[in-house]
Amino acid sequence: MAPQWLKKAVFYQVYPQSFYDSNGDGIGDIAGVIAKLDYIKNLGVNAIWFNPWYESPFRDAGYDISDFYKVAKRYGTNADAKKLFAEAHKRGIKIVLDLVIGHTSLDCKWFKESEKPERNAYSDYYVWCPIAYYRGSGKGDDYFVSGWGPRGAFLANYYAVQPALNFGYAKIEHPWELRYDDPRCRATKEEMIRVMRYWMDMGADGFRVDMAPSVIKRDAGKKKTISFWKEVRRIFDRDYPENVLISEWFDPATSLKAGFHIDFCYNSFWRCGYRPEKPDPKWPQMAMAEKNFTDPVPAIKPAFDLIQKTQKKGYIGFYSGNHDAARLRYYGSEANTIVKLAMLFTLPGTPFLYYGDEIGMRYRENLTPKEGGERRTGSRTPMQWDNALVNAGFSTAAKEKLYLPVDDAADAPCVADALKGNNATYNAVKQLIALRKQHIALDNDAKVELIYLKHRKMPIAYTRTKGGEKLLVLLNSSKEAVSVKLPEAVNAAPLLVEGVRQDGGTFHLAPCSYGIYKI
Ligand code: GLC
Ligand code: CA
Repeated sequence: MAPQWLKKAVFYQVYPQSFYDSNGDGIGDIAGVIAKLDYIKNLGVNAIWFNPWYESPFRDAGYDISDFYKVAKRYGTNADAKKLFAEAHKRGIKIVLDLVIGHTSLDCKWFKESEKPERNAYSDYYVWCPIAYYRGSGKGDDYFVSGWGPRGAFLANYYAVQPALNFGYAKIEHPWELRYDDPRCRATKEEMIRVMRYWMDMGADGFRVDMAPSVIKRDAGKKKTISFWKEVRRIFDRDYPENVLISEWFDPATSLKAGFHIDFCYNSFWRCGYRPEKPDPKWPQMAMAEKNFTDPVPAIKPAFDLIQKTQKKGYIGFYSGNHDAARLRYYGSEANTIVKLAMLFTLPGTPFLYYGDEIGMRYRENLTPKEGGERRTGSRTPMQWDNALVNAGFSTAAKEKLYLPVDDAADAPCVADALKGNNATYNAVKQLIALRKQHIALDNDAKVELIYLKHRKMPIAYTRTKGGEKLLVLLNSSKEAVSVKLPEAVNAAPLLVEGVRQDGGTFHLAPCSYGIYKI
């Protein structure tokens, strides 16, 4: 049982600090997002995922939470959150929050209590090793911050400032570890279930779960972790059947079994990390770039196989980009980027559009890292609303007060130009999302079949089928013109075509072109 709306869900990811600053302090806020809801709706999307907006010392841009029940001051108040839920729902938009389940910040009340030598309700919320100099093996999920006060060393989950919440170990190896089914670990889980209920009762439509596989430690095969999430899913099915559980797990074959409705997939072909010095075979992100054209088969094929393998179980979240990776536009020209977006919006699963990617915002190289963003910082810069306004319309604050510098290049894209029809990426995104909405064969759960994929060659062709409708998708992301014969598509009727000429069953594709047809 999964919410029906997931069949048609198209997500937009909002990084709250960089979207729109409503009160001129230089940082985006919830009131700013409310002010831009009509813009978001106009794109055709029907759901938003928010990066964390909770109280935090911001040593990992809010992924280090100090109060899970409270909106950070810089973003507004819980009343603003409530208002956002209502305003979004009025427009038919779902709001999905980030649930950072694996860790807290050092400033969290739970941690402050836990570090005290006297036993209290929070003592076992974290993993403490009484050997002060203990560092763990440093491998996988076994990394301790040593010498931390009277209780010794604590287990960290990501950065050292992110102590891991204690959901226990699948396999005990040391006396300070608790088993996953210990009632003391149960208490930590109950706390996080309270957090989920709190926001969903206020109006949130579900969560994107940060580092979802990290909850139970030393869990080879993830059996106990899967049971952990299955229980959460049962709570959703019973009490929040319309709400969605999305994982940052990057292994849909496992996470969908664990009860998640959607999991992200690293195999987003074009952008999985940063432009590598030497291409990393595990991250074939260059494969769809027209410069340095490489083999599409190893990049594309595994994703299609994964779709086939998981389609009955849930959805794969394909994304244009996110706050942890370089922007899509980094990997190719405007025309090349548009072909990739055509793929994103014609694949099954759930498409996620990262804010700004709809206008082709660029990755900003060599920015001073902000709030633990490191090289990710370049993908987190302010939304460019209107280049004719100060700070591209993001904020009225003095330039030095901005969260991050605005891209002030002469040719930086902006929303105002896009709305006037002067941005090819934006035009394509709008058309593609509208097309996806209109056609049942483009539903998130509609079948896909790869019909043309050859080594070191474009195009790529696949069909989508559902309820008696069948569509053909043709993509050429390369700099070369290519042709392909598809006898089954002799009578193809064009729906949305950029640069493809059809001659009976033969299709001539210009460099960086795509076509979507009814067959
Ligand atoms: C996830 C987030 C990332 C964060 C990390 C630690 O990967 O997407 O931004 O730094 O978890 O919470
Ligand atoms: Ca603000």
